[in-house]
Amino acid sequence: MCGIIGAIAQRNVVPILLQGLQRLEYRGYDSAGLVVVENNELQRIRSTGRVAELTTRSAATSGHIGIAHTRWATHGVPSERNAHPHLSSNLIAVVHNGIIENYEELRTRLTAQGSVFTSDTDSEVIAHLINSYYARGNSLLVATQAALAELVGAYAIGVVAADNPSQLICARKGSPLLLGVGIDEHFIASDVSALLPVTKNVVYLEEGDVAEVSLHGYRIFDAKGQAVERPVHVSKLSNASMELGEYRHYMQKEIHEQPQALADTLEGVCNSQSLIPGIFGAEAAAAFEQVESILILACGTSHHAGLVARYWLEEIAGIPCTVEIASEYRYRVSVPNPKSLVVTISQSGETADTLAALNHAKALGHPHTLSICNVPESALVRLSKLHFLTRAGPEIGVASTKAFTTQLAALFLLTLVLAKQRGRLSAEKEQRHLHALRHLPSAVQLVLKLEPDIAQMAERFTDKRHALFLGRGLHYPIALEGALKLKEISYIHAEAYPAGELKHGPLALVDKDMPVIAVATNDALLEKLKSNLQEVRARGGELYVFADAGTRFHSSEGVHLMQMPEHAGYLSPILHTIALQLLAYYVALQKGTDVDKPRNLAKSVTVE
Ligand code: G6P
Repeated sequence: MCGIIGAIAQRNVVPILLQGLQRLEYRGYDSAGLVVVENNELQRIRSTGRVAELTTRSAATSGHIGIAHTRWATHGVPSERNAHPHLSSNLIAVVHNGIIENYEELRTRLTAQGSVFTSDTDSEVIAHLINSYYARGNSLLVATQAALAELVGAYAIGVVAADNPSQLICARKGSPLLLGVGIDEHFIASDVSALLPVTKNVVYLEEGDVAEVSLHGYRIFDAKGQAVERPVHVSKLSNASMELGEYRHYMQKEIHEQPQALADTLEGVCNSQSLIPGIFGAEAAAAFEQVESILILACGTSHHAGLVARYWLEEIAGIPCTVEIASEYRYRVSVPNPKSLVVTISQSGETADTLAALNHAKALGHPHTLSICNVPESALVRLSKLHFLTRAGPEIGVASTKAFTTQLAALFLLTLVLAKQRGRLSAEKEQRHLHALRHLPSAVQLVLKLEPDIAQMAERFTDKRHALFLGRGLHYPIALEGALKLKEISYIHAEAYPAGELKHGPLALVDKDMPVIAVATNDALLEKLKSNLQEVRARGGELYVFADAGTRFHSSEGVHLMQMPEHAGYLSPILHTIALQLLAYYVALQKGTDVDKPRNLAKSVTVE
């Protein structure tokens, strides 16, 4: 979603802004723009192309203070006039991430007062509103604070004024924003990755904070306008972790990073002899004693991780579990159970609906909250009492891969800890599970070796328009995730069904043009799945079977077999999902889509 970068320095900031935008591209965008202040004038350049095009257009521009933006359209089509920064009277320039809910009312009022709007966005009202206060003689900081007090909705903003080349104002509420601290230069950005080329020292703004940033320092004011200190963090992200290296796409790189990501996520646990609740936070043991059910809230791929966890939690830990899509839960009238542990799952920790769902759960009186998240300083982690950090490293590809498998690893740990605490895990079983977890990274390596075979299989999908994914039990959510990956990046319409539902509808769609991808694991449901697959073959459907060792599937006419290296028991979903990630990746490659930045999608969905 929208990305913001801003800079004030003694050097020309245009290259810093452009490089920052490039590093924010992964969030998803459809247009981009920048403003610099030079000779008391705003110089604005915008483009509906890629950041590379903006770079070409900016060749002759320079300045020592500026703000820039990648836009993901919400209000108003993707076009140059709707791209940020938005200006008011060529005096105030604003970049905005979020949604201003009362923009129509403000627009009507400001238009009546003489403001001239030139875009269809909600964001433009912010520029005119700030200008209306600035024109009354307020400082840029005070004018911005006054304007923010009138906004309803979510925002992260950066503001500059043509007649004030020494200050950049920024603020956040509901959308992420941080400050970058350099030596006599300062920056603002939506995430730390944009700043890595210039600084690793960052300050995370809190909800409602407004900051005045200048060459030599910055001042932060909280929602009540009180001056506050916020700690400076040294980011552990390395520049190298953001680079593509030998891979063609970030998605491919991230698929291959999974053995390491899993090893890193499980590191503390696998080195110890037994599992303790403390891995979820100091107060976890006491909280877990009190909980009698689990409520998982998440969106997209993270929601699929929750669906897998439900099978584990109920079967291994014997604890009732419900899994809900965050955007549904937050608006549904539900019956709260204060003895439920509310588990939110998110790669970014900034997904608007997941954050809102957590706040909703808290407002309903749920005291026990745990987040499983990949970004340590994210809003989600800060809002939850307990947390577990997946250590997948930065995930750039819009389609989530390593974040998903590390979430699964974390959820499996949660299952084991709860099972142990509830007396359902013998010492012997605990050791067996720990052994399986230690083996996981090498099991994943073996799946990655299937890459050339899966690439070959993918060639058969190039002319397909639809696909059906089947799984049963623990692997039904993996079928869902496989279908999601395929549709996200190859634009092939894909649906997933629990195989037992085949006869209740989707079988009507099966013919020779409908590939059916089956997750065939060597477990108690294998024979039932085989019968379901016979039903597909009998209707001329082409089968693509990802089969565990020992399942005795054979390739034959209309049956294409992908032999998985082993059966990983409870951890099998992690292995199967990686095979399906590779399938989606190679189908997308065949189709020539923009794998890392699929159309219309955003990595970080910071608006609802
Ligand atoms: C977007 C991303 C998905 C992700 C979902 C939830 O749709 O494209 O990859 O699964 O948001 O994001 P989160 O950061 O909360 O896991």
